[in-house]
Amino acid sequence: MGDNFLREHAVYQIYPISFADGNGDGKGDLKGVISKLDYLENLGIKIIWLSPIYVSPMFDFGYDIEDYYNINPMFGTMEDFDLLMEETKKRGIRVVMDLVVNHTSDHHKWFKEALSNPESPYRDYYVFKKGKKDEKGRELPPNNWQSCFTGSAWEKVEGEDNMYYLHLFTKYQPDLNWHNEKVLEEVEKIICFWMDKGVYGFRCDVISEIYKESYEDGKKRKLGDPVGSEHYVATQGNHDILKRIRKDVIEPRGGVLIGECGGGITPEDGIKYLQDELDTFFQFDTQLCYKNGLSSKISMKKFKKILIEWQTKVDYNGNYFENHDQHRSTNKYVHGKHTDIGAKMLLTMLFTLRGVPFIYMGQEVGARDYPKGLPLEECSDCVTHSVYKLARDKFHAPKAFSMMMARKNGRDDTRAPMAFDQSEGHGFSALGVKPWQRYNPYSETYNYEAEKDDPHSIVNYFKKVNQLREGNQILIDGKIDFLDTDDKILNYVRVLNHEGYMVILNLTDKKVKYPYGFERIEKEHVLANYDDEAKFLRPYEARVYKINKKEEK
Ligand code: NOJ
Repeated sequence: MGDNFLREHAVYQIYPISFADGNGDGKGDLKGVISKLDYLENLGIKIIWLSPIYVSPMFDFGYDIEDYYNINPMFGTMEDFDLLMEETKKRGIRVVMDLVVNHTSDHHKWFKEALSNPESPYRDYYVFKKGKKDEKGRELPPNNWQSCFTGSAWEKVEGEDNMYYLHLFTKYQPDLNWHNEKVLEEVEKIICFWMDKGVYGFRCDVISEIYKESYEDGKKRKLGDPVGSEHYVATQGNHDILKRIRKDVIEPRGGVLIGECGGGITPEDGIKYLQDELDTFFQFDTQLCYKNGLSSKISMKKFKKILIEWQTKVDYNGNYFENHDQHRSTNKYVHGKHTDIGAKMLLTMLFTLRGVPFIYMGQEVGARDYPKGLPLEECSDCVTHSVYKLARDKFHAPKAFSMMMARKNGRDDTRAPMAFDQSEGHGFSALGVKPWQRYNPYSETYNYEAEKDDPHSIVNYFKKVNQLREGNQILIDGKIDFLDTDDKILNYVRVLNHEGYMVILNLTDKKVKYPYGFERIEKEHVLANYDDEAKFLRPYEARVYKINKKEEK
């Protein structure tokens, strides 16, 4: 599987509320996106992915859709969207939309109808089930499943006797019933509507979890996966639905499907997804290998092992370090003080691994988390608040500890307004406008204007790695082989038709020795994040070489 255009170009993710404010209300919008297309073109971007822009009460910032066919007035109008399609087309940029169909918003007319009239056909668009009773006759939800966002996955229906509806996320996001053929028909209609408007494809939200195979109680699978997930992650029904969608509406229109595949999918599941379902997908294993349960830092030793497994078993991964749900990569994957060099090392890896590189807005300039996070009252993410509440109410944890866990799991850091320059509004909004979330003080340093003329800046390094991959068949199609080194180093080659690249990355903030025999390999320097070469690999040093290699038969 794999559409060529998608294989050939990195994808740049835009979180619309935080990208660029075109109408001066402190919130990003479509006019803002249009105003930054020259910026994106200048970076060499060919594909953008827009997080949801549909009508939504925004409880989960658009991942709760009220109307799939209209633009959220906060982001503009359908005319703005049409203009965006025209302007992107002029620049050879393709647009990927977010498709959120595990659930709708509780404001969606289907759900309202399902609630107000149990006899309506829309009742079966969702999952309504009777609760259970324990031995003392107390009411319990239909099963023990947990929401991915804490608490039970069931919400009691007001005014009905012992009736619940399923929500794998917040109670404002009722799950759709994918056993109902009508739901599939509705979703295919939505896909066609946007593809007919010129959209290139979809990033499919939690797509590995849409088809619930049974509603039995769950056993806990592994740390981090909510109870019940074995009944709905990567089920055969899920694969069948994706095959249908691909065949019915995506293939005839030449589009792409990018899956967000959470819930602890395995590389074997991933292989199936790539057969005739998805073009590429995101797994979470490389995001979740923290040093320990409390730490918000990744263990690079664990990361290396997991990454190699995914890279060697699965043909074309969606590679990413950042998105609107994750902390900035310099905070999460880079330890110690060499954060700029670390950011460049991660970019080198992202653009030389096999698979599609996904970049999150701001990553190109080395954006950071807030220095100390935001105070709880300024956090707008529902996850931050639910984790804080859980820690305080259920575990009686102290405030500071609860806040630490809320920040680790919460998503406010990564959703700060974008910084294009050093002006008061950072090129995100106009002077004097209060942004919807406060600017990050690091915006003063990490922004395009401050970096553009500095040959050593992160953004200029980003341009180089992006250019290196563009049109480079070895990096696009070459196979990947990992060399045996100690845990501190990641060393791999990409080879196609006897030509190749060798990449060596120091994953630590310490000096480390080159692998034994490395200097004897015949190779030609292509790119590095230090100006010169030393006897040791310096903290987070990244080097890319051209090699000639006979392909093994
Ligand atoms: C994954 C999205 O990336 C996240 O932002 C959202 O909260 C959940 N899915 C629920 O839609």
